[in-house]
Amino acid sequence: MKSKTLKILKKAMEDKVAVGAFNTSNMEVTQAIIMAANNLKKSCIIQTTVSTMEYTFDTIGELVKSNVKKLAPNTEIGFHLDHGHSFHEITKAIDLGVDSVMIDASRLTLEENIAITKKVVEYAHPRGVAVQAELGRVPYLGREKLDIDWNEIMTDPNEAKRLVDETGTDALAVGIGNAHGFFREKSEPDWERLKAINALLPDNPLILHGASDWEGEKVKKAVELGINAFNIDTDIRIAFCSAVCKMTGDQHCEVSDPRKILKVAREETQKAVEKKIQMFLGKE
Ligand code: G3H
Ligand code: 13P
Ligand code: ZN
Repeated sequence: MKSKTLKILKKAMEDKVAVGAFNTSNMEVTQAIIMAANNLKKSCIIQTTVSTMEYTFDTIGELVKSNVKKLAPNTEIGFHLDHGHSFHEITKAIDLGVDSVMIDASRLTLEENIAITKKVVEYAHPRGVAVQAELGRVPYLGREKLDIDWNEIMTDPNEAKRLVDETGTDALAVGIGNAHGFFREKSEPDWERLKAINALLPDNPLILHGASDWEGEKVKKAVELGINAFNIDTDIRIAFCSAVCKMTGDQHCEVSDPRKILKVAREETQKAVEKKIQMFLGKE
């Protein structure tokens, strides 16, 4: 399998370490991730989402690939679709050039999850693209109720084994009390659960989503127990937006998505350019 992302994850497994998998949504964030990896001479994964594919009018693939080539030709950098939810989204991302896709069918029943993950694997593998599945749910800040019954949504190790065996997925995103965003996570991750999943799936990289607020001993222990990649989005979005707010003297920065700022900037710039074009044609 020629997938660079899978190669990076397998190497992390062998070395008993983990890599960062960072979400990008524009040129500056993409370059920041690439330059960080290149500067440290460490591999990493860049992730797009369907929202970002839409936001960039499907140019994110070319943007990531050209910047990796230009800025870090000698650093291993994978390119992955984060949280694909349908077969159509998966094929579209593969057409845009990702070398790994996530099919997140974690909100479906196990049977449905197995069926769609298998279909994705059958499509992706012959094209040299790796697959990450998810079992158990990793909740989202602001999008889901806060009184979560963790036992109900965390990954069941035996079901995880079944999902991997029956689908041939390469990697697995696990729920062990983690959550997206700066969130009221489970006070202590379910380490025994992670240990059990890893024992049943010794050859499959395990991914921890919602890692923005994971640090120190928690990260160390997660790696010891089998996590090979940490997904980070919120933390770097905030770094970007805080820097913009600081520049503009905004003391109470409430924006935490670069696209919210840049979309408006793009629209206003487009209006300004249209006005000039019309003016030069004598059509004010
Ligand atoms: O886990 C998923 C991402 O944090 C959500 O990303 O806003 O680009 O869809 P998005
Ligand atoms: P955070 O937003 O918590 O960093 O999670 C990112 C993530 O899991 C992307 O898939
Ligand atoms: Zn995620």
